Amino acid sequence: MPPPHHTRTLAFSPEAIAEAARLVLAGEPVAVATETVYGLAADATNADAVARIYAAKGRPSFNPLIVHVPDLAAAEHLGIFDDSARALAEQHWPGPLTLVVPLRENSGIAALVTAGLSTIGLRVPVHPAMQALLAACGRPLAAPSANASGAISPTRAEHVLVSLGGRIPLVIDAGATERGLESTIVAATGGPLRLLRRGPIEIAAELIEAGTIEAPGQLASHYAPAKPLRLNARGAAPDEYLIGFGEIVGDTSLSPSSDLIEAAANLFDHLYRADASDKSRIAVAPVPTAGLGAAINDRLRRAAAAP
Ligand code: TXA
Ligand code: MG
Repeated sequence: MPPPHHTRTLAFSPEAIAEAARLVLAGEPVAVATETVYGLAADATNADAVARIYAAKGRPSFNPLIVHVPDLAAAEHLGIFDDSARALAEQHWPGPLTLVVPLRENSGIAALVTAGLSTIGLRVPVHPAMQALLAACGRPLAAPSANASGAISPTRAEHVLVSLGGRIPLVIDAGATERGLESTIVAATGGPLRLLRRGPIEIAAELIEAGTIEAPGQLASHYAPAKPLRLNARGAAPDEYLIGFGEIVGDTSLSPSSDLIEAAANLFDHLYRADASDKSRIAVAPVPTAGLGAAINDRLRRAAAAP
């Protein structure tokens, strides 16, 4: 369970944004209005902060999160835009369009944000509250909708409080959101553009490959290590790279102190490390299934089941 918070609500103002930025830079997720829905924003370069998003939402699985940036130039520092992606960005940004593009090497984005994928979802929001927070933090901000897992996306600060009250430190209240619907998502990762999620922006049909709409959270492409992976390992065979947890010391440890936030923050980096090691198989120590552990175990099971 995330540590209990007294959740404050502050009306959007320069002082409120300064306080939100202080919290974000200290690694805390903060709820803030965007033009689509309220987002739960955290520093996308800080894996622990991103893990706290999952802890607060109680989300049972890790999906790639959308990264918010102030403008196209900032987006191009993180992702690689081809001509069609740039054209869509120039036409619709700032606004409720997310573009999934190849992730740049050395982007500094925590692997938990992209769920280990080599692509990144980027969005330049138009809402002044989210824009002010981006300016005050000077960091890219990962932000899913600010609701507990399974609850409806929040279009008012009161909705955020119903769902996440006591689980986050601060909500920046800027009234009802204009669009009330999550952003349109288009993938521009080579080949034809693909519509991943319908949303407020209508994308011309001729731009989009037919019949490829994917439900969010049901992505076919999930990062999985190339090597076979064994779960609930209490020790390693000679050809296994052991990812430890708690009292089980491995070649590396998700969290020696059994801290699930630390474990979530480390998960994808350690899977990469295991994949790159000179051992031919991977073993992972048992991770408890409570709280964030559910999402960690979901991801480990998928990695173990991958062909
Ligand atoms: O309107 C919005 O987009 C809101 C506000 C807060 O900006 N944010 C939002 O974020 O809806 P989120 O995290 O709930 O949306 C994540 C979805 C994933 O489920 C997936 O469909 C897609 O964005 N996505 C993000 N990165 C992706 C990637 N690298 N590859 C494929 N899909 C990606
Ligand atoms: Mg959502």
